[in-house]
Amino acid sequence: MTTTDHHIEFPPSAAGSGNAATMSFQERQKVTAQADPARVDLLATAVLTAVHDIVRRHEVSYAEYDALKAWMIQVGEDGEWPLFLDVWVEHAVEEVANAAREGSKGSIEGPYYVPGAPSLGAEGALPMREDEQGTPLLFHGLVRNVGGDPLPGATVDIWHADNDGYYAQFAPGIPEWNLRGVFITGPDGSFSIRTIQPAPYQIPTDGSCGALIRAAGWHAWRPAHLHLKVSAPGHLPVTTQLYFAGGEHVNSDIAQATKPELILSPVAVDSGAEVRYDFVLDPQ
Ligand code: DHB
Ligand code: FE
Repeated sequence: MTTTDHHIEFPPSAAGSGNAATMSFQERQKVTAQADPARVDLLATAVLTAVHDIVRRHEVSYAEYDALKAWMIQVGEDGEWPLFLDVWVEHAVEEVANAAREGSKGSIEGPYYVPGAPSLGAEGALPMREDEQGTPLLFHGLVRNVGGDPLPGATVDIWHADNDGYYAQFAPGIPEWNLRGVFITGPDGSFSIRTIQPAPYQIPTDGSCGALIRAAGWHAWRPAHLHLKVSAPGHLPVTTQLYFAGGEHVNSDIAQATKPELILSPVAVDSGAEVRYDFVLDPQ
């Protein structure tokens, strides 16, 4: 991308964020042929039986059945399957995957992670524009094991939306690695990140997910959040999110991905806001 591509030509939209999320997923995923027929049979039958139950219980009409068909076709055309699944399904998968974890709570990854962000050492500022809007935030802490020992050389991969709720590489007009970076904890297990507080995120409203939200009378918002992947050799990596106490939609996240343990309470400082959070990694 050249700098001239960075003008906002159209607002983030189904045609933008949705399709970009689909392409990003298709580039990154490696589906291994691990389909155990017994498991496919079990899960596919369970899904279909649940759908049949709903049709009977709620006496679904042909008009409603056709509306569903049309809507599902449109979700694919808009490239919004990653958005749909990550907003309305992933939280349950995450709950099951991380049920046995003793250390830090996980949360959903969402559709906007991109590997390969700039490596920034143990402390520094995330890449940002000269006029990056938003309250400056100093986010620091330790990575530890479940025994409480600090983990030097742990990786803290962080990405988040800007002050308008948009993600670099998924909305137009934002430099490639804006508000994305990888930190490596120092000898004492510490990291220190300078960034800005993100804004709440609105699911793109002009595509099929937006159409569903409007048709059902729901709202389209996730509370402001930081995304993180924290890992260290010999430990289970954790994918999580951190939210802000008192923030809009913290108690009404459309993606149902908040947890009490994941809420930060930054304090005001001269430069903006500051908060500490320690991550705890389970052994592998
Ligand atoms: C979606 C976006 C997010 O930023 C997130 O954290 C989870 C889901 C989405 O649009 O699907
Ligand atoms: Fe997000």
